[in-house]
Amino acid sequence: MYLKKISLRNFRNYAQEKTSFSPGICLVQGANGQGKSNLLEAIYSLCFGRTFRNIRERDLVRWNEPYYYLQGILHLQERYVKVELGYELSKKRKVIKINGKTTGQFRLAQYCPVVFFIPEDLELIRRGPEERRRYLDRELSQESTLYAELISRYNRVIYQKNRILKERKRYNEIIEMLRPWNKQVVYLGSRIIHKRARAISAWNKLAAKNYKILFQNDQKMKIVYNNIVGEEVEDTTIAEIEEKFERKIISKEKEEWERGFSLLGPHRDDVIFLLNGRDAKRFASHGQQRSVVIALKAAQIQLFNEKKEKPLFIVDDVFSELDEKRKKQCFLLLQEAEQVFLTVTEKSSLNNFLDQVELSSFVRIKEGKILESKNDG
Ligand SMILES: Nc1ncnc2c1ncn2[C@@H]1O[C@H](COP(=O)(O)OP(=O)(O)O)[C@@H](O)[C@H]1O
Ligand SMILES: [Mg+2]
Repeated sequence: MYLKKISLRNFRNYAQEKTSFSPGICLVQGANGQGKSNLLEAIYSLCFGRTFRNIRERDLVRWNEPYYYLQGILHLQERYVKVELGYELSKKRKVIKINGKTTGQFRLAQYCPVVFFIPEDLELIRRGPEERRRYLDRELSQESTLYAELISRYNRVIYQKNRILKERKRYNEIIEMLRPWNKQVVYLGSRIIHKRARAISAWNKLAAKNYKILFQNDQKMKIVYNNIVGEEVEDTTIAEIEEKFERKIISKEKEEWERGFSLLGPHRDDVIFLLNGRDAKRFASHGQQRSVVIALKAAQIQLFNEKKEKPLFIVDDVFSELDEKRKKQCFLLLQEAEQVFLTVTEKSSLNNFLDQVELSSFVRIKEGKILESKNDG
């Protein structure tokens, strides 16, 4: 997939701009605070109907303006698709059009292969389990609307179950109060575990290979899914997961009641990254941890290449964070995507690489204006 054209009207700090891109590497250059991330945000929104940082619609509208409007031409599944997004402040209403037709739900999203890479991702291993779960959910929701639905239903159920546990002093019959909620937790939770397990297993296979190739060392990388059912869960059926989950949750009912919150389920899952069998969070260097993330990103791109079409890859601000060695490795992966949007503050920061790759498009941004735009396509 690639983005051929985009026009922005009153979106973030853009008043009215348009430009076109080719497949390949598109460099977005500009000093800090000029609008690079905002442009990427617009691109992402055209693919998914929402932003990747979950910014509120009204905050996307340029200050003191009544609406925003985005239009893009995406090349997807061998044809061009025109996507329009608009939001009017006064009506609080978002309008989405695909090929001129208004659609309610943004169905296009499930066909859009997009991988993005932001500086927070580099710290994925260092951060807490919550962030890793969020990462997992972000990536899986993008691919599957069913998953996104499961997660939001599951979170609601856990919230309600926790409320009951919190107010437990008011009730005295434990089983009757918790059972209906636990039934939901098991039903939804097992489906989430099933999906997470498959995704992580697929990531693991490719990422391990990538790590070896990219970093040419003998350290073995492994991604392990930590969940209540057990580590080797990727070949387990939903029914089997449900059965194990149910047994465990019943055995913990009393403890949950005593402690006053939900102890078991995918809301407490984690993803563990191992190097030579040791937890990278505890033992790997900061640089090694980042290398692992790069290998993971490469895996995600490759998975799209296998399954659907080559993805669009959005890389915001990551390059400035990497040392020369990792920059180079990261650059190797850019070629695997169909189109890459890459932000830099100075083009010269890529001097060491620009002789190895060709830029297909280049835009320079200043104060929400596209000053220079070159497109080879
Ligand atoms: N709704 C908005 N209207 C106008 N300007 C905005 C809006 N939202 C953010 N901005 C401005 O956008 C700029 C940040 O742009 P950003 O794309 O994050 O910069 P960078 O080039 O560093 O990625 C800031 O100066 C901010 O004030
Ligand atoms: Mg930015």
